[in-house]
Amino acid sequence: MTPDDLPAARRVSFAAFLVGDGLPRRVGEPEPEPPDEDGVRRWIAKMGHLLAADPAGCLVAEEDGEMAGCAISQNRGGLWYLSVFAVRPGLQGRGVGKRLMDAVLAHADGRPGMLSATAHPGATRRYRLAGFTLHPMMRMVGRVDRSRLPAIDGLRDGRPGDLAWMDELDERLRGAGHGPDHVHLRENAPLIVSDDPGRRPGYVYLDEVWDRPMLLAAGDPETAGRLLWEALARTKGETIVNRITVANHWAVDVGLAARLDIRQQGYLVLRGMSDPAPYLAETHFL
Ligand SMILES: CC(C)(COP(=O)(O)OP(=O)(O)OC[C@H]1O[C@@H](n2cnc3c(N)ncnc32)[C@H](O)[C@@H]1OP(=O)(O)O)[C@@H](O)C(=O)NCCC(=O)NCCS
Repeated sequence: MTPDDLPAARRVSFAAFLVGDGLPRRVGEPEPEPPDEDGVRRWIAKMGHLLAADPAGCLVAEEDGEMAGCAISQNRGGLWYLSVFAVRPGLQGRGVGKRLMDAVLAHADGRPGMLSATAHPGATRRYRLAGFTLHPMMRMVGRVDRSRLPAIDGLRDGRPGDLAWMDELDERLRGAGHGPDHVHLRENAPLIVSDDPGRRPGYVYLDEVWDRPMLLAAGDPETAGRLLWEALARTKGETIVNRITVANHWAVDVGLAARLDIRQQGYLVLRGMSDPAPYLAETHFL
């Protein structure tokens, strides 16, 4: 993949994900929507960041000179993760995905790995056949009942000087720091940290566009809960707490206390590592 491929990769990926994301939909849930211009710009900036950070993990498949599929993966220290895996809807189920997967796994070179999967049967089949374990995920959705918000102290806005200890925390929880991904996230999203000496450390980023918490890591469930409450306090309308695995029921408990509802999501897909906790992964940076 080169930077010139990003617009086509975006088109292929959104077309594939409109199908994949719609699959676990329940009665009453809205249909996934195509992105607006801002969404397109943000996707290209985010993937451009990954392409610059570890280009060898980013690959495209072509047929008759047109992009048939793409996979964007990254090595960070001893961890490999997969951000994007998509094949054009009319070309799925013919082995293009397997060839892309084999290629990005060669880049992983045996590292432990993680990715956040839709419930698309082609995707889950591909991951399990490649030796990954599928951890079912929940999400909490709804509007926070503001009368339930507890008073939270000891938190502050994150600064560039926090990224070093945040990487150490990531390393304990998932085997590697986010490194350049923290730099990209901090430039684009508010960051709240807990570094009170009397407590375990932790951080959470806020997704202001979608009005929800995004990536959260903490030294214990108590700090994780305080960070999630603070993130929920800053939401304005309908919100979602995404990617809650079985090991992260602390987030279900906070969500229930805030009067959010439990829904099902896809899978956190892992190999060579256990389900990180207390931790809420981010969709593309894991
Ligand atoms: C996941 C995806 C990239 C795989 O690409 P692909 O070219 O279809 O993959 P392959 O054909 O190599 O392998 C898919 C496997 O699942 C099967 N499969 C594909 N689509 C399927 C479907 N809709 N239902 C059931 N099985 C399906 C294929 O037969 C194949 O199995 P086999 O090799 O044992 O025959 C592609 O299906 C896709 O873009 N899906 C939508 C987006 C998505 O969910 N991406 C993953 C996000 S984590």
